[in-house]
Amino acid sequence: MTDRYAVIGNPIAHSKSPAIHAAFAHQTEQDMDYDRILGNPDDFAGDVRAFVAAGGRGLNVTVPFKELAWELLDDLSERARVARAVNTLAVSDGGLLHGDNTDGIGLIRDLAENQGFSFAGRSVLLVGAGGAARGVLLPLLETGVAALTIANRTVEKALALAEAMRAAGPVSGCGLDQLWDQRFDLIINATSSGLHGSGIHLPSHCLAERGWVYDMYYSDTLTPFCRWGQEQGARRVIDGLGMLVEQAAESFLLWRGLRPDTAPVINALREGQL
Ligand code: ATR
Repeated sequence: MTDRYAVIGNPIAHSKSPAIHAAFAHQTEQDMDYDRILGNPDDFAGDVRAFVAAGGRGLNVTVPFKELAWELLDDLSERARVARAVNTLAVSDGGLLHGDNTDGIGLIRDLAENQGFSFAGRSVLLVGAGGAARGVLLPLLETGVAALTIANRTVEKALALAEAMRAAGPVSGCGLDQLWDQRFDLIINATSSGLHGSGIHLPSHCLAERGWVYDMYYSDTLTPFCRWGQEQGARRVIDGLGMLVEQAAESFLLWRGLRPDTAPVINALREGQL
């Protein structure tokens, strides 16, 4: 029987996950369907239960349900526990729900494997302290960065997150207006402002010469954060399309035990063929 998977979110019509997983399934010759589900904000648990009862084998979870999802699970990976958010849910043969978060490893793989960034010894600035930032913190600290700074408009959230992660590596928190004398080899946007196009304002000196800029979001046109990176003369400016495909590949690996080749899928999306 064809195994069923889906992405659940609200809104969901824009999601590229069905196209990405269809491409993975085709490439690896897996017998699977992957749909999209418009989740009910008042009964997310009911939607998940219905999907599992109908024989569903796995879900990707997206906005606004990532934080809700982990309350439903029978067990949780360490990275999902730290992130306090789940983007991948796998159903065992016995019907148990396992939760994971592949966002962080997706970001690391895109930067390290696809783009060739070497994290070891680098100073990294993560802008934002919401769910998206939390999802990538542990994998970022595990790369061997020399220093990770979390900067957020609401400084208390950055400080609390840094404090919570202290045991995992060299991390500190500050406000967006406290970046006077620091310079970073890599600046990552994990705020939701990229989604709304409002842009965020960082001091122009905080990107090191030949530094890199990464926006965890993507759009068909240059994101405001990527534009800011270009204006600063960043060596590389990268949007989150590769991260999107890499986190999907990690979910696929979890479900099917196979790692798809991501490069052709990233290229097809970039060229508007998916
Ligand atoms: P997500 O799950 O996408 O991270 P979230 O948990 O609501 O969403 O967090 C949004 C993040 O984007 C926060 O870090 C938020 O800053 P505050 O904590 O100060 O609210 C940040 N953010 C959103 N809009 C912003 C803006 N215009 N300028 C700066 N930061 C912004």
